[in-house]
Amino acid sequence: MTEQTQFDDAAFAEWLKKNPGGEYSLFSARKTAAGISKGRPHPTLGPRLQVDSDWWEAGKPIVNELLEFHRISETATVCDYGCGSLRIGAHFLKRQPKGCFFGLDVTEDFISYGRELIGADLLEEKRPTIGSIKSTLDKVIAAQCDVLYSTHVAIHVHPDEKTTYLNNLKEICHKPGSTIIFDALISKDRVRFRNSGWGWPIKFYVEAMAPFVLSGLSYRRPRENVGHEYFFAFERPL
Ligand SMILES: C[S@@+](CC[C@H](N)C(=O)[O-])C[C@H]1O[C@@H](n2cnc3c(N)ncnc32)[C@H](O)[C@@H]1O
Repeated sequence: MTEQTQFDDAAFAEWLKKNPGGEYSLFSARKTAAGISKGRPHPTLGPRLQVDSDWWEAGKPIVNELLEFHRISETATVCDYGCGSLRIGAHFLKRQPKGCFFGLDVTEDFISYGRELIGADLLEEKRPTIGSIKSTLDKVIAAQCDVLYSTHVAIHVHPDEKTTYLNNLKEICHKPGSTIIFDALISKDRVRFRNSGWGWPIKFYVEAMAPFVLSGLSYRRPRENVGHEYFFAFERPL
């Protein structure tokens, strides 16, 4: 891959020497978590978001955009895949019935911030299932989710992990009629975007998501000269 010669690839290669067989997502999560633990603000993760509003308000515009794009019933069982610190997940955890919210991320690092920000009372009332993909994926698959969403994740998934990422989404949504919603950077050919982003042609997603069928597409914004972001909805046929 040509992109292995730039960005943080040298640091990843060094990290791999100490963590043979490790994945870029874990390397990247550890690096980001180290920055957050030092008090550094981040656009989407941790308690100090790079926005003027407070943490609860920060996720609302994306939640509204998601709900305008695709209806999600207030009784649906929902999974937030790549939930990070639950900036978006906190709103669905609050909205859905008790036991109907599931959140997964690469590590517990970001999730633990989310738990603190949501607070023990709401967690006790809603009894969500939240954890690392490694420890909690099987439990989420067993929950037969109606809807899975994955916000600001697909763009960050390393090419070597792309198949696992999309297969996990499909495995979680194994129930006929279930819906997968995610945003992604669409480009003419596969491209690297900034340090930890990748754009893919739309054809890639449509083919990789089979047997799911594309049922919704909504334009979000341009990303520099690299491509354009869209929201996608895919349905598992009945
Ligand atoms: C920009 S953050 C977005 C977090 C959250 N979805 C939000 O919108 O606030 C990207 C998240 O994707 C997760 N991630 C990166 N690569 C992943 C992968 N291969 N599988 C699952 N999650 C991944 C990261 O750990 C991180 O929490």
